[in-house]
Amino acid sequence: MKHFLAISDLSSSEVQDLLDLAVRLKKEYFEKGNPPLFKGKVLGMIFQKPSLRTRVSFDMAMRHCGGDALYLSPNEIGLGKRESIADVARVLSGYVQALMARVFEHEHVLELAKWSNIPVVNGLSDYNHPCQGMADALTIQEKFGKKKGLNVTFVGDGNNVAVSLMHVSAKLGWNFTLASPEGYDLNPKAVEIAKNIAKETGSKLNFLRDPNQAVKGAQVIYTDTWTSMGQEEETAKREKVFPPYQVNAKLVNEADKDAIVMHCLPAHRNHELTDDVADGPHSVIFPQAHNRLHAQKAILARLFGVA
Ligand code: CP
Ligand code: NVA
Repeated sequence: MKHFLAISDLSSSEVQDLLDLAVRLKKEYFEKGNPPLFKGKVLGMIFQKPSLRTRVSFDMAMRHCGGDALYLSPNEIGLGKRESIADVARVLSGYVQALMARVFEHEHVLELAKWSNIPVVNGLSDYNHPCQGMADALTIQEKFGKKKGLNVTFVGDGNNVAVSLMHVSAKLGWNFTLASPEGYDLNPKAVEIAKNIAKETGSKLNFLRDPNQAVKGAQVIYTDTWTSMGQEEETAKREKVFPPYQVNAKLVNEADKDAIVMHCLPAHRNHELTDDVADGPHSVIFPQAHNRLHAQKAILARLFGVA
């Protein structure tokens, strides 16, 4: 694994192997602490957008394993504005041992990877959020084991988080359903990729409008913000379209009785997810957020070739 840009770049066994490593590193961390696997390594973290989880979990993943991380804010770097992406990549390649980048345009993280001599990790783009997808899969396997045929339903906007959830679900042989309003479907290229993965793994993909129908028989209900970073000018319009897609107690009652409710966070409480569900017995939103740390340790360890 040279870079970590999309879950669809990995084989099913590579995805499972990363998850198994995350489980091992998580257990080790809680039992005795992780060994200094990343000693002498610094992760440069380029952020063009805000972050709580991605920033802190990557930073702490490096520290727990004896390494360090450097936060590079949007204003400092001016990626593609103050300096070309190709030049930023080549300069940083001489200073740090890996890069994590959160960008607006997916092309920009691909461009960074193209010009870097060091591993590049996609920390969210307008297309996907693969680190989130790995933490999500870790959380789902912790609850349900390595079973194939689980029903994973995403309710809301067919966004970057939904793309990575669809791809990891297809890779692991889970059925993936999206319930979205018209005009808010998944990226068609991402759907094509998922269909090809599903042919190999036997996963079933469904794209529906009705959230009640979509959650029937679901073991996982997932939602995310109605307005992603970079779409702020559409907020008012989206607030009118999405209320039927709210994940509330009534919708959760339509799913499997043991269903888990997931959200990548930050949550807009009582918009896409009601307080009672977010803080109720089905919710795994905080263990899910914490799993970012463990999933990313595994990704970094593979990229550094140290585990
Ligand atoms: N889920 C997630 O990526 O959160 P942040 O935007 O806070 O990093
Ligand atoms: N879809 C959201 C995810 C935030 C972690 C966004 O892109 O803003």
